[in-house]
Amino acid sequence: MTKTIYYGAASLDGYLAGPDDDLDWLLTYQGSFDDSSAEPGPMGENGSYVRFYESVRALVMGSATYEWILDHLDTAGGGGEWPYRGKPCWVLSSRELRLPEGDDVDVRVADAPVRELYPEMAAAAGDGTLWIVGGGGLASQFADEGLLDEVQLTVVPIVLGTGKPVFERPLPGGPMQLIGARTFDNGMVELRYAP
Ligand SMILES: NC(=O)c1ccc[n+]([C@@H]2O[C@H](COP(=O)([O-])OP(=O)(O)OC[C@H]3O[C@@H](n4cnc5c(N)ncnc54)[C@H](OP(=O)(O)O)[C@@H]3O)[C@@H](O)[C@H]2O)c1
Repeated sequence: MTKTIYYGAASLDGYLAGPDDDLDWLLTYQGSFDDSSAEPGPMGENGSYVRFYESVRALVMGSATYEWILDHLDTAGGGGEWPYRGKPCWVLSSRELRLPEGDDVDVRVADAPVRELYPEMAAAAGDGTLWIVGGGGLASQFADEGLLDEVQLTVVPIVLGTGKPVFERPLPGGPMQLIGARTFDNGMVELRYAP
């Protein structure tokens, strides 16, 4: 069965990005944490992101996230190319969007409620993970439909004060259950919750 996971990084005060979609606070972050039991940073070789990404068989994101990636291909993790080659990626938008170039790019722009698109996404993800990349409005749409299995959030000890929130509205069903926590030697903390 497909596992639908909202995976991302947030500031300490719960923002995915600054108000102008600024992600410099995350991309330039270099903290430290003096604890020998902490793991290396999430992005390193065999780090938590690498292990997570291996399980991903399909992705879904909102258009603001998608356009940020297209505008920042050099820093978005694909070495100048679309970073999710070989994996189908649904981009939700009511607009016509430009598409990335390159081999093995599978971007599917769709304008529909997530409950209508979910069967197709789950079929593509199979027994693997469907990654909800963001933003918060999209995550809230999945949560509202009861289609969110897990939230995996890496908290970065930076306070932005304002920006794009992790969720847009309260989750139905009340508090989430903690299913895992991990500290990294750069001071980030990864939290895993099940709704
Ligand atoms: N820190 C992290 O880990 C992380 C993770 C993800 C994103 N981010 C950043 O956080 C920011 C997120 O931005 P955001 O919250 O504004 O939004 P977003 O979810 O990326 O995009 C929202 C837009 O997607 C379209 N959309 C959403 N649901 C739709 C549906 N069901 N059908 C059709 N269209 C739909 C709408 O735009 P249109 O119809 O006008 O196209 C909507 O305004 C970005 O800057 C991104 O780079 C950070």
